[in-house]
Order: sequence, then structure tokens, then C-alpha cells
Amino acid sequence: MRLDRFLSEIGIGTRKNIKQLIKAGRISVNGEIAKSSDMKIDEKTAVVTFDGKPLQYREYEYYMLHKPAGVVSATEDRAHKTVIDLITETKRKDLFPVGRLDIDTEGLLLITNDGDMAHRLLAPEKHVDKCYMAYIRGELTGEDIRRFETGIDIGEDGEEQMTAPAALRVIRSLTPDNDNNNDNDDDNDNDACLQEVEVTIHEGKYHQIKRMFAALGKEVVYLKRLSMGSLRLDEKLLKGEYRRLTDEEINNLKK
Ligand code: URA
Repeated sequence: MRLDRFLSEIGIGTRKNIKQLIKAGRISVNGEIAKSSDMKIDEKTAVVTFDGKPLQYREYEYYMLHKPAGVVSATEDRAHKTVIDLITETKRKDLFPVGRLDIDTEGLLLITNDGDMAHRLLAPEKHVDKCYMAYIRGELTGEDIRRFETGIDIGEDGEEQMTAPAALRVIRSLTPDNDNNNDNDDDNDNDACLQEVEVTIHEGKYHQIKRMFAALGKEVVYLKRLSMGSLRLDEKLLKGEYRRLTDEEINNLKK
């Protein structure tokens, strides 16, 4: 790997800054002051230092992002900011999001360049749990909970597409109790009802949660992913913020 790419990928600065640092003799490779940005190094074994301090090259990087609404889960997009644009501390070109959240969905998104890990987390046969918090318009019934448990047909255009069993838990109702208003307008009361729920699915079909509720005649008005497998969203991260995973989080995901 070229020295300037190595330095850029670990976030030392822009190519221009890096050129200046090398010119100023502040970068050494295996004990020798580096002379040019295009020198080739073995990124796995070279001891590269910046002002005498060793720099560590990581083959794989793992970031937890608190995805905000309005950014797309893609590596490039013509119209919108992507989740990769939010990871500013590294200039690595090989990062990608593990799975997709809709543009209006918030919450946990793992960003990495570890293709094997992504495959293990996303492969349908691995049944990795994904837990979401949602606000649902429409009153949920015991029958709705049972239908989540047995699987729901979310197919379109007459084609059946059954989901695997999922878990739905109503956390609380966010609507004031209107039962005493005697307006006998049950339909409107039902539509006005907003409930906070927790949903756990073990697969990742396109728009799965929204389509599961739509099949029950209910609407998802807000959706946030809380966890994926062993990885839980760090609530200290504000929307749009990210951090590296800890070694423990990485090891747990690899188990
Ligand atoms: N299900 C959805 O409908 N949307 C998401 O973003 C994630 C799961």
C-alpha cells in the first residue's frame, strides 16, 4: 500500500496535509524518515510513526452509527447524504452499511469493511434478532400480537410472502383516553390512537416492519432500530453521531 493511502485511511489528514507532513520529516517507516508519499509499505507489518508515535493500521473497521432520518443506507447517492458520509474520521473507501434502514428510519446501523461479518449478520439462515421501537397509529389487539407470532403475509399483487414468527410488545399508549367523550366515533378514535411498541424480527425483508403493520391495517409513524444481534445502540450517541465498536462488542458479534 502507498504510504499516503495508509495515512489517509487512518485519518491523519488530507493527501495535501500528508504530503506536507512527509516533507517536514514527521513520518517515519521502520525507523527511517519517510521521503515520499508514494513509497510502498506493507501495511500489516510496517512500523509507521507520526512525530515518533506509532500508528496502528486496522484491516477491519467497525463503527456504530445512530442513523438520523433523511440519510440513505448506501455508499453513494446522487440526491441524498449517505450513512457513509457521516463517518468523517476515516477516509477508507471500502466501508459499507450492514443491511439497510429506510430513509426515515433512525437508530442502530453497523458500518464496516468486514464482508464476512456482514454476511454472517445478514444471512437469512442465521436468524439474527433485530429489535425496533416504533410508534403505531391504530389500536393494536391481542389478535395482532398473535399474528406477529405466527407470521404475516406481506406479499403484494396476489403473491404470498410470509414472514417468519416475530415478537410484538405494546409498551404504552401515547394517546389520552378518549373513551368518555361519548361521540360513538370508534373509527376516528382508533385512527387517532398512537402506541409505542417493541418489535423483534429475525430476518430483513424489504420494508418488513412497515409492511407487517400495514397488513394489519395499522401505520408505522416512527421507527428506530435498537439492536442487531448482540449489538445495542449506545444511547449516548445523538442522532448522526457514531463511535468505534469496543473489542468486546466486536468479539460478541463474531461469536
Ligand atoms: N423495517 C422497515 O419497514 N423499515 C426499516 O427501515 C427497517 C425494518
